[in-house]
Amino acid sequence: MTDTSGPSERAEPPSCSAAPRSADPWPAPVEALAHRPGTQEAPTTLAELTTLRVGGPVGEYVEARTEAELIDAVRQADDSGTPLLVVGGGSNIVASDTGFPGRVLRDARQEVLLVADNSCGGVEFTATAGTTWDDLVREAVASHWGGFAPLSGIPGTVGAAPVQNIGAYGAEVCQLLASVRAWDRAAGRTVHLALSELGLGYRDSDLKRSLSDAEIGAGRTWGPTGRWVVLSVTFLVRPASLSAPIAYSQLARELDVELGTRVDARAVREAVLDLRRSKGMVLDTTDHDTWSAGSFFTNPVLPASLAAALPADAPRYPVAARAGANRPAGAVRPEREQDAPVKTSAAWLIDHAGFPKGFTLSATSRVSLSTKHVLALTNRGGARAQEVAALRDAVVAGVRDRFGIALVPEPVHVGW
Ligand code: EPU
Repeated sequence: MTDTSGPSERAEPPSCSAAPRSADPWPAPVEALAHRPGTQEAPTTLAELTTLRVGGPVGEYVEARTEAELIDAVRQADDSGTPLLVVGGGSNIVASDTGFPGRVLRDARQEVLLVADNSCGGVEFTATAGTTWDDLVREAVASHWGGFAPLSGIPGTVGAAPVQNIGAYGAEVCQLLASVRAWDRAAGRTVHLALSELGLGYRDSDLKRSLSDAEIGAGRTWGPTGRWVVLSVTFLVRPASLSAPIAYSQLARELDVELGTRVDARAVREAVLDLRRSKGMVLDTTDHDTWSAGSFFTNPVLPASLAAALPADAPRYPVAARAGANRPAGAVRPEREQDAPVKTSAAWLIDHAGFPKGFTLSATSRVSLSTKHVLALTNRGGARAQEVAALRDAVVAGVRDRFGIALVPEPVHVGW
């Protein structure tokens, strides 16, 4: 496990004191994509399947209703040499205008199975890959399954969560999960990958690395879906109605408590949803600031020498050293052995390189930085993927020219 994405320290695990279960349904889950599985006509473009709402036609769209159907759909595609794209909530994809000529596959299963609920041994449960992430968080908070509340409101599915080790407000999914059941496309069989085998780092995992690293990909690179197709994820957490000690200063301020305080997890969920809404990071079809792929760039992890050259007011977050993960990315200069890496803020760099909130390349462009947070590139309605790419490239060039740091996009690019 690694550092979290902000100015935080690892929180202690919640204590073993389980509170009685409540049927409290509040606050409501976050609505996912426009297209939910099985509810509408099959989508024909990636624009309908992604939260950024750009992207051209898909060759074929398939929904799987059982694990066997999911595996069969992957096998058929791989056996016939058909390119495969497994989509979840579509919230971490930037699709090109040319689209994707292969098979687009969606897991339509939304199932959470409680395996064990023991007040001292922990709560173990398994969710199918297609389960909407925020539905799971809502159920976890209402059921007193500890540790989930800071991850409220993140778009996407359970299956995508370990791929990029989703994180927010002092928590990462690697703190909650026990194992992943996956279809290994290289070996042609199902596998159980334990937490320690997933190589989880800051917004990274071996599942994701298999897209670009042939060693992890068993001799080849995979894409746009990696070597392993997640079938289900098993979580193991402590029962707790209180949150872990609040470890993220923005969240502590929102809750009006000191850092380190433990708070009712329902209040944490509400505060996180409020914070995310204020940044346009909760999907809302009526708000174009949320027509995005979330954070478009990861926060650069820099060698100390490069971080030291940043202006004094640039955010600097400590990074726990960990072999094989959180390698300084985006540093133009080489890392020196004695440098302890430092994470800075991509949003701060963008803002201070001359790209304020709402920035757009031209008055007629249908793409702009969010008016609430510069880290989101947003579709103002009817945008083309090419316009997203133009703004992405302008921001990358501007930050490189001003600070000598190469920003690395977080979302997967499909069809470019
Ligand atoms: N900032 C600006 N301008 C802005 C917004 C932010 O200069 O328009 C600066 C401020 O200095 C602020 C700093 O950027 O203090 C950091 O901003 P923020 O606290 O919003 O967090 P972030 O680093 O931009 C990360 C994650 C988010 C996660 C939040 C909260 C990444 C790439 N992003 O954002 O995750 O919700 O922390 O924990 O790690 C996502 O990955 O899609 C995502 C939304």
